[in-house]
Amino acid sequence: MSAEERIPARRTVLQVGPLQPSLEQRLRDDYAAYVLPDAPAERDEFLASHGAEITAAVTSGRTGVDAELMAALPNLGAVVHFGVGYDTTDVDAAAARGLAVSNTPDVLTDCVADTAVGLMIDTLRRFSAADRYVRAGKWPTGGVYPLAKKVSNTRVGIVGLGRIGNAIAKRLSAFGCTISYHNRREVVESPYEYVASPEELARGVDVLIVAAAGGADTRKLVSREVIDALGPDGYLINIARGSVVDEQALVAALADGRLAGAGLDVFVDEPNVPEALWSMDNVVVLPHVASGTVETRAAMEDLTLRNLETFLKSGDVVTPVPMPARASG
Ligand code: 8YV
Repeated sequence: MSAEERIPARRTVLQVGPLQPSLEQRLRDDYAAYVLPDAPAERDEFLASHGAEITAAVTSGRTGVDAELMAALPNLGAVVHFGVGYDTTDVDAAAARGLAVSNTPDVLTDCVADTAVGLMIDTLRRFSAADRYVRAGKWPTGGVYPLAKKVSNTRVGIVGLGRIGNAIAKRLSAFGCTISYHNRREVVESPYEYVASPEELARGVDVLIVAAAGGADTRKLVSREVIDALGPDGYLINIARGSVVDEQALVAALADGRLAGAGLDVFVDEPNVPEALWSMDNVVVLPHVASGTVETRAAMEDLTLRNLETFLKSGDVVTPVPMPARASG
């Protein structure tokens, strides 16, 4: 089949924000997808000419579809996300419009949980800092590297016991860690101890791992008070969203020695990481790579395309996100 023959008679798919190149290519080749322009003037012109043609938007947690864009796409039926997080999409507005919203759960759980454990070990044992010490040629003169903090058998608190939180708990149980958690609601079937507030959870653990979804409900859930409760011997690990932590309070606590260390894969204003963290050897900073393996990103792409294709054929998506109830009347 030639490229022209593959292009659907009607162009109804819109790419919103950057996606991984192979997915962008599939959207171009198989759906002749439009790409929403970035520049405001071009964007307005595009929406005025083509907004009504669009029935499906493909995006990621990096960009999302807000209520204003939904309003400019009057025939939109689905917002399809590459990634598990969809906090940048206005789900209330989507529900009010009766839109389907999908994400890519499960397929990235292992890699994100692996990253949380890797970050925790790296932060407590200071492997990245020790690696820098060797590369800087300091070992021959500096001698034995300063002792670090033991990982096995620590007390770990998990904020958000969803799929990823559970996968982290399972891995750390094998390290002999004592696991407790805070969640929107208690998970009654869980073997781990439920703690009613993040502050109380932080007070009783050595390491606090943030695995809660982003969005308005969890903004700064890990507040200054929670960070203070974790205290000067405590460590914070975040593989969820930067918005879940009060980043300014975190940086201040690290700078003042009121927190022992932090391992961070996510930040409030990515790709900008607070510069104060760059020189701290008790902090590990990663450029949002938790799901970033060849295998997982391919699985995320497949599931994104399955959601899109299923929606275009049937009006339904394969992995819908939980939607708020629609107001009746
Ligand atoms: C992706 C993520 O890197 O799934 C998520 O919510 O944050 C990551 O897995 C991201 O969605 C891709 O932009």
